[in-house]
Order: sequence, then structure tokens, then C-alpha cells
Amino acid sequence: MPFEHDSLLGLTYLTADEILYLLDEAKAFRSILERDLKKVPTLRWLTVVNLFYEPSTRTRISFELAEKRLSADVVNFSASTSSVRKGESLRDTVDNILAMKVDMVVVRHSSVGTPQYIARKCKVPVINAGDGTNEHPTQALLDLYTIREKFGQFNGLKVVILGDIRHSRVARSNIDGLKKLGANVVLCAPRTLLPPNPNVFGVDYTTDIEEALSGANVVNVLRLQLERQKAGYIPSLREYRMFWGLTSRRAKLLDSDHIIMHPGPMNRGVEIDPDVADAKDTVILEQVTNGVAIRMAVIFTLAGKIKG
Ligand code: CP
Repeated sequence: MPFEHDSLLGLTYLTADEILYLLDEAKAFRSILERDLKKVPTLRWLTVVNLFYEPSTRTRISFELAEKRLSADVVNFSASTSSVRKGESLRDTVDNILAMKVDMVVVRHSSVGTPQYIARKCKVPVINAGDGTNEHPTQALLDLYTIREKFGQFNGLKVVILGDIRHSRVARSNIDGLKKLGANVVLCAPRTLLPPNPNVFGVDYTTDIEEALSGANVVNVLRLQLERQKAGYIPSLREYRMFWGLTSRRAKLLDSDHIIMHPGPMNRGVEIDPDVADAKDTVILEQVTNGVAIRMAVIFTLAGKIKG
């Protein structure tokens, strides 16, 4: 199997072949989701715990559905209703959960490196469901799957990542995957929402939204992380929409062959106008459906490592 890892901690650790392997595996699972009976008995022996220390709609439900479609047993942990509220540390929480003999851990946490920490501590596969501003590998894989579904390949595609790149783990994982697969990535944001040294990504970047969107095949619009805007990164939401929002006028600059993506949750009328979000060239809900297939592929692949 051309997949060398026991855990999925980030796309930074994967080769292009390993990414393509997971996308190919997901194709088979995607077709299962179209059946009347959307379930296979493959992983009846597996117990997965979903540790969510941060809010989530799509990722949490998508992982749970993927696990149930594979017939795994699922345990959901939410920090807000757990003994974390009584002061229990991450280390003790993880030790206690592992003592109950789970086979796989999915984790979302606001601190960068939490999945790596858990993976070092335990012998079971760990899947990163988003760690702080670092990585969100399954989101990037589902984005890559959606792009390949539309265009067949990545070479020469102009892919614009638009918006709050500074705080975005989705951007980091996407940049890594897209670069490895041969796409031309362009980052576009106000200077304050680019990282202090945008060259670290090794891709083009611009603060000119018209230049960025011109002739692009894909625009992936990032959520403006409203919870972080008190620091004064932008003057106001109204001005952000005016200068950086994806409006229907700006969407006309895209190549005639294009798709519009958003990882969710959307701030309608801020980073993306409602008419653009609901237009037929957006693939936002396809991304969500593909996410279940991608997570089935990741869980299935890592479960194969347990059984050898
Ligand atoms: N895309 C994404 O991670 O959404 P959630 O925060 O709802 O999981």
C-alpha cells in the first residue's frame, strides 16, 4: 500500500502519491454514499473516539457518519460537557479514554500540535480534525477531491485561496496539497490577513483581488475568523466585504471553466455574497458530501495499518 503512515496528522507529511492514493480510495466510498444502503460491514471490529475540543458542525458530523457507514463503533467526546470543565488536563483525558481500549482517535483542538502530542503518547492511529491555525488535512483532502472531480487533474490549474489566510489551517493544508499535485496557487488577502512573511508558503500571493481572480479555475473562499477580528486586522466587516468579498461582479473575472469553494461555516454577506454562495458554479455542498467519502477512506486506510 503506498501509504506509509500510522496516523494522519497533516498534509505536510504526505507525498503526492499518498495524497492521490487517498483520493482514489475515496472514489469507491463516494459511490457507496449514492446507494440506498449507505453502509458496509468492513470495520465492525473498530472503535473510534471523536475528541472535539472546539466547535464543529461539518467535520464532527462527517467523521461520525463516515465511521458509522463503515460499521465502526463511535464514541463522541465534547469538551464542553466533559470533565475538562472540572479542570481535567488533556493528558489525563486522553489516558482515560485510551484505558477504555479505543482503536482510533479523531481530534480537533485549538492548540497547534495536539494531534502530534496524542500520537506520540499512544499506539493507536490519530486523525487531525483541525489543530489551531496549523492543519486541517481531511478538509484539504476533500477540497482536492472536489477539484479533481471537476477538472480531472491539478497541473496548470490556477487556484486562488482568498481571505483570512493568516489564521487558516484550511489554507495551510490546501497549499501543501495543491503544491504537491502541481496546481498554481495564488494567495489573496489584505496584508494584515497574510502571514508576516507570506514567502514561507512558496507560492504566489497578492493583495489585488481583481488580479488574483482573473482567469482562475478555482477560488476557495476562506471564512473570515470573526472571533479574531478584535485585534484590528480589518477596519470593519462592511469594508471587508467591499474590498475582499466574493461578489457576483468579481466572480465574473474567473475563467469560464471554474468552481467556487468554501470550507464552511460561511459568513454570508462578508467573505461571500449570498447570490454567489447559492449560484450553480459553487460546489460548497458537494465538498461536504465528498468529505464523508474522504473520511471513510482515511479511517479505512489507517484501520488497515492496525490489522497489518
Ligand atoms: N470546515 C470545517 O472545519 O467546518 P466545521 O468547523 O463546522 O467542522
